[in-house]
Amino acid sequence: MKSFKTLEWIGGIDGFLELTDQRKLPGEFIKLPCKTVEQLYDAIKMLAVRGAPAIGVAAGFGVCIAAREIDSEQKLCGAIEQLNKKINYLSQSRPTAVNLFWALDRMKTVAEKFAAQNNDATILDLRRALLSEAQKIYDEDVEMCRLIGINGEKFIIEGCAILTHCNAGALATAGQGTALSPIFEAAKNGKKFKVYADETRPLLQGARLTAWELKQSNMDVTLICDNMAGWLMKNGKIDAVITGADRIAANGDAANKIGTYGLSILAKAHNIPFYIAAPSSTFDLSIKTGSEIPIEQRDSSEVACFAGIPTAPKGIDIFNPAFDVTNAENITAIITEKGVIENPNPAKVKNILDTD
Ligand code: MRU
Repeated sequence: MKSFKTLEWIGGIDGFLELTDQRKLPGEFIKLPCKTVEQLYDAIKMLAVRGAPAIGVAAGFGVCIAAREIDSEQKLCGAIEQLNKKINYLSQSRPTAVNLFWALDRMKTVAEKFAAQNNDATILDLRRALLSEAQKIYDEDVEMCRLIGINGEKFIIEGCAILTHCNAGALATAGQGTALSPIFEAAKNGKKFKVYADETRPLLQGARLTAWELKQSNMDVTLICDNMAGWLMKNGKIDAVITGADRIAANGDAANKIGTYGLSILAKAHNIPFYIAAPSSTFDLSIKTGSEIPIEQRDSSEVACFAGIPTAPKGIDIFNPAFDVTNAENITAIITEKGVIENPNPAKVKNILDTD
């Protein structure tokens, strides 16, 4: 169903990463080449590529770009030291989505193991090993999205209306999305239903990206402002909420785009099921609860302006957290590629993630 590539490695080991520049959508569909680590850092920070899984996949390829930038005449141990500095730099682009750190750690481990086990290998050999791992991360993401769709499809009931927040669709992953994947799957199976997309202030990922994606796929989608969700629920117009996640703690607490927590409270108050859809790469079992998840604070201009036009008095104090955390007890189920975790708790989370 996906008619575009969110991100793609172009060429062989001397190639580069090409992104669909999400800052330009829906007005323009343009590609952004990333040929240096600095370009990719900026692309992640400024949201040209965004959404937890897509950030992780981009970071995997980012390590391939980094490996091309290091001095190819030196020994492998020196190369690993230089590479790790660049990996560390990329890790500072955004703090909340754990997929970034997950992918960078995975690439770092591959590089270090390769150097330890291949004494006579060259940096070209190392670059080949890294590109193959980054491509694996890409392919696995596509497959995880597909399975999330299959596992979550049953929650889309014929004739229902689903509310989603931010963008957890194809643009946020290498595949067909996380929260939107069950929606695409249900549509593929011939179910008829409606989707409401929250516009998602301040950066409008719902209006610019989710509404665009769903329209592209000829889905029945209606855009609402964030502050309309409660009223729609009160009037019986929403049957379920599905969002993605940026990091899920060991107890099932889930960080996602700011506003998700509020929606979970509204859903609970109106007895509406609230689902999170996320791959295993979004879980962070090193932290016990959501209170340990770092929340990104973004520039005040995002709140002080709308589409670049000032909408607040100059010099006003602004608070702009990009994410919030929904407590596990507000989550009806977490839909993963390995299965569904109903009423999540630490034991159930561990159980599903341990499944092969
Ligand atoms: O700031 P963004 O646009 O990167 O935030 C994205 C989200 O909050 C998504 O819901 C989340 O990353 C899941 S994407 C499959």
